[in-house]
Amino acid sequence: MTEQIQPVRGMNDVLPAESVWWQHLEDTVRELLLAYGYEEIRVPVVEHTELFKRAIGEFTDVVEKEMYTFTDQGGDSLTLRPEATAGIARAMISNGLLRGARHKLWCIGPMFRHEKPQKGRYRQFYQVDVEAVGFAGPDIDAELIALTARLWRRLGITRVKLQINSLGTPDSRRAYRERLVEYFSAHHDRLDEDSRRRLTGNPLRILDSKNPDLQQLIAGAPLLTDYLDADSQAHFAALRATLDAMGIGYSVNPRLVRGLDYYSRTVFEWITDALGAQDAVCSGGRYDGLITQLGGEPTAAIGFAMGLERAVELLRQLPSQPQAPAADVYVVLNGEQAAIAGGRIVETLRDALPHRRFEMNLGGGNFKAQFRRADRSRAALALIIGENELSRGVAALKPLRLEAGQSECPMTQLPERIEAALRGTDLQE
Ligand code: HAM
Repeated sequence: MTEQIQPVRGMNDVLPAESVWWQHLEDTVRELLLAYGYEEIRVPVVEHTELFKRAIGEFTDVVEKEMYTFTDQGGDSLTLRPEATAGIARAMISNGLLRGARHKLWCIGPMFRHEKPQKGRYRQFYQVDVEAVGFAGPDIDAELIALTARLWRRLGITRVKLQINSLGTPDSRRAYRERLVEYFSAHHDRLDEDSRRRLTGNPLRILDSKNPDLQQLIAGAPLLTDYLDADSQAHFAALRATLDAMGIGYSVNPRLVRGLDYYSRTVFEWITDALGAQDAVCSGGRYDGLITQLGGEPTAAIGFAMGLERAVELLRQLPSQPQAPAADVYVVLNGEQAAIAGGRIVETLRDALPHRRFEMNLGGGNFKAQFRRADRSRAALALIIGENELSRGVAALKPLRLEAGQSECPMTQLPERIEAALRGTDLQE
């Protein structure tokens, strides 16, 4: 037998039985984003490698270890996007959309990171990414968080908690960074290999280490909060006051530093205890310096991304289950002539009743087999087209989910009669 081709490790198929969950999630997100005034943007999956290096930072795990980078036939170094913010910022600049304008944007799609796959952590994963570009004040920070809080409520997800922090400005962070390097250097012998490497490149990331041996040392490290500049402090205080006024619960986590370098001021993360080690479902923050760093005019911005696999997993743990929509009408065909005429009749019905779902019996089969398929389609109604009926210009209708007999209907009246029968079923359900 020919050897089968395996899927790429860490990259998953979403099968029809699971896509019901995805659609429920995506429909809810889309509806909410529309209600908050966000517009969809689509950016390429592939960008110049340089974009991610400059935006995300050379000393981040993503850029150091996780990017899918390749040289294309023209000799350019390209990378499969590990996240969407850099591409969206680039798109704003390349398309001349800034010039003081403000944009509320969202995008959905696959991201790629060569991480060690485990439950909730994949090499291809989907994000809904939301970005507000051109907004400097803490009001938008609060609005974005309120949007995510509402999303959980709409979806019925309760096992999530909000953590927030402020990273200050690059200047205030520089002063803190120096203090941190001093502190960790003084305890160099207690650091693991990863942290020693980060000490020169990205010392803030040491605070994020999961190594249990380091936790005590990290707990004693100086706090970024104590180094915040006055404006960042005021920004953070206003955000907290707004969240309090909105009744949105949160905790301030002074060790929340995020894995990407472009953040400044507000960062936040929705975490859950329902997914094991991969506890972040939705994370983001402000990135006021990124657009300048990429060659655009100074533009404040903030955004977040939600991991769809993780959100779907939270949905699956809920008691209520979304169901794939059922067919409305299953068309049963009796005889060769009926099969030929059936196609035409159903197409006419689809014209007349565009919102109804018709499932045509395909591939023949006796009556019993066809009714079995009708049953599986969960249709409310069977439309039976037989040769005898055809010659008399009629068809038969049979409700499938109600105790009612079959009735004949002139072809010309089919749309009205089908609609009436379906409404009757809808009412009785
Ligand atoms: P991030 O924290 O790297 O941020 O990713 C955001 C979310 O994507 C995470 O909270 C998680 O739910 C999901 N995620 C990340 N990596 C994986 C993975 N390997 N497998 C499954 N899910 C994953 C960003 O990407 C930023 N661009 C967010 C942002 C937008 N900040 C400002 N604007």
